[in-house]
Amino acid sequence: MMAASTKKIWMDGRLVDSANATVHVLNHTLHYGVGVFEGIRCYGTPNGPAIFRVREHVRRLVSSARLYRMPLPYTEEQIVQAIVETQAANEIVPSYIRPIVYRGEPALGVKNSKGKVSLAVAAIPAKKYLGEGSEAGVRAKISPYRKPHSDAIPSFAKADGNYLNSYLAGLDAADDGYEEAILLDQNGYVAEGTGENIFLVRNGNVYTPGLESDILLGITRDSVIQIAKDLGYTVVEKLLSVNELLTADEAFFSGTYAEIAPIREISHFTLGDGRPGPITRDIMQVFYRIIKGEEPKYAAWMHAVAPMPRPVARTPRRSTVA
Ligand SMILES: Cc1ncc(COP(=O)(O)O)c(C=O)c1O
Repeated sequence: MMAASTKKIWMDGRLVDSANATVHVLNHTLHYGVGVFEGIRCYGTPNGPAIFRVREHVRRLVSSARLYRMPLPYTEEQIVQAIVETQAANEIVPSYIRPIVYRGEPALGVKNSKGKVSLAVAAIPAKKYLGEGSEAGVRAKISPYRKPHSDAIPSFAKADGNYLNSYLAGLDAADDGYEEAILLDQNGYVAEGTGENIFLVRNGNVYTPGLESDILLGITRDSVIQIAKDLGYTVVEKLLSVNELLTADEAFFSGTYAEIAPIREISHFTLGDGRPGPITRDIMQVFYRIIKGEEPKYAAWMHAVAPMPRPVARTPRRSTVA
């Protein structure tokens, strides 16, 4: 995340200049990875900016924080307001919004569950995680790095430390010239990408791994499942073998940052004819209409952001969320 590309960051109730959004170097989260976060997108629509499924993201943030014993001093509604306020203050559209829960005070020692729990929210210009043009299909490598079992690190929570695994897998795939890695679970079943869930299509049906494969239960994944079912497809959550993936008719990633990205090649296996397949395109078409605010049926997924009142104060403002 580049602080320079955003003006104001929300920190515990205050919108501060990006350059001043700092924490102590001995903070617990930096040393032990104990923090939880979200990635959320805000899109431009004919009715102004709208945040995609913000309440579901906030609910997941709160449950991740609970799992890691980080009692949040904010209600879900206050966190939604903080996100909306940050988005409005920065006026970046489309944006990628990053709320993060952390312990920012100096506190060395792993077993610290007492320090102050803080929330920060930033909004930065949105990019395509898998590169511009990823809608045409990406190349992915089956990673030598596997997902840790949830008995060790629960995939259910979106925690900072989980991304050590994504980091190693992602760089390994990039070194080999691939856009993304596909990680397997500890039993060798297909799990997910470094920052996306995965779907495959066989004989007209849509398949995706379930929580037993140590995946993050993605909000885009949930959206894809709903869209696919509404389109009349059968969606099955099950253990998926590498062989089922390599011989799939179609496959695609889903995630906030990646949106929906068809997979055209996996570890040198070309899927189908190497182009996005018809069912992938069908689902993508509806998804991309939803985020442009063009699908009234899914309007509840788009949370409108009212513009900030002008003129904007020059000194750090007290936020409406204390
Ligand atoms: C490991 C992992 N899996 C899946 C996803 C997709 O989740 P979502 O659709 O909620 O962004 C993400 C991104 O948050 C992720 O980091």
